[in-house]
Amino acid sequence: MTRYTEIKEQLLVNQKTWLITGCAGFIGSNLLETLLLLNQKVVGLDNFATGHQHNLDEVQGQVSAQQWSNFSFIEGDIRNLEDCTKAVGTTENSVDYILHQAALGSVPRSIADPILTNSANITGFLNMLVAAKEAKVSSFVYAASSSTYGDHPALPKVEENIGKPLSPYAVTKYVNELYAEVFNKTYGLNATGLRYFNVFGKRQDPDGAYAAVIPKWTAAMIDDQDVFVNGDGETSRDFCFVENAVQANILAATAEESGKNQVYNVALGDRTSLNTLFDSLKTALKANGVNYQKSPAYRDFRAGDVRHSQADISKAKNMIGFEPEFKIQQGIDKAMPWYIDFLSK
Ligand SMILES: NC(=O)c1ccc[n+]([C@@H]2O[C@H](COP(=O)([O-])OP(=O)(O)OC[C@H]3O[C@@H](n4cnc5c(N)ncnc54)[C@H](O)[C@@H]3O)[C@@H](O)[C@H]2O)c1
Repeated sequence: MTRYTEIKEQLLVNQKTWLITGCAGFIGSNLLETLLLLNQKVVGLDNFATGHQHNLDEVQGQVSAQQWSNFSFIEGDIRNLEDCTKAVGTTENSVDYILHQAALGSVPRSIADPILTNSANITGFLNMLVAAKEAKVSSFVYAASSSTYGDHPALPKVEENIGKPLSPYAVTKYVNELYAEVFNKTYGLNATGLRYFNVFGKRQDPDGAYAAVIPKWTAAMIDDQDVFVNGDGETSRDFCFVENAVQANILAATAEESGKNQVYNVALGDRTSLNTLFDSLKTALKANGVNYQKSPAYRDFRAGDVRHSQADISKAKNMIGFEPEFKIQQGIDKAMPWYIDFLSK
């Protein structure tokens, strides 16, 4: 039995309370769905900066009325300490685990508006750490990022070897790791970072200037629009299906002491070029009745992007029992019907 199966069985008979910040967003709403299906109590915090009410509505449709009654939502902003404290609770009645996802993602957004990204990703993060340590929460798991590897050329990426950040976004995610470590040393807070590598799956927003590559291309293909590739298409990424990221969060939050206060790569340990991704999406759409016939439209490389990215996931495997269940094509196949349905509404 995998550690994940074991933990899920334990949770089913032992209800805990989880706080998910950013729960109306992509990864947050997937965490919410899994935890409610495991009969957990969940507090959600979100200001709808990039998240959506329709993500919460959709989760409601996936769980029973009883499970939905275990969810309470606070519309609030992590840049406001009071909102964080309200969501975390006090020492007497705090949540058991925090999964901190709220942040402003996207490298280009951070280049366009570094102050805004800084306020959510650093000030907001610090507020959450303060609220968590005041309430003596047992485990604080946060969304870190593969962007922290910056200009370090080595592949695959190993947690301890990082380079210089290449964008304001990458700075904020690295500062999160530094703050988390300092809060552990100075206040004894258990804080574990998950360096996500290009997570994808249902409810990842296809709209807007800062959409990620998989939802953006999928939407363009369904709409028979051009698909723009930044660079020559040989840029590669370690795409990680969202259910693998959900697994990593649950494993990290419930880890033994030895597995806490670490930073882990969360990915597949695989590398897919943009050209291969283009073909995979096309094939998956074809299997769902969407026949996209255009070739990719190549354009300039994008500022701040790293050329290749691939994770070594042995640390998470060895220390918290992480075993990604979905390869990239399986994830794409699972996500496609959702995109077709969502975009036809
Ligand atoms: N998706 C990826 O591939 C990826 C990769 C690396 C890191 N991450 C990190 O994972 C986390 C979740 O990302 P996602 O892809 O689900 O993005 P998302 O934009 O879908 O979700 C982020 C959520 O945080 C909320 N939020 C933003 N600012 C807030 C604030 N000030 N107060 C309260 N809520 C706020 C948004 O409304 C949104 O619901 C982020 O921290 C992101 O930086 C994601």
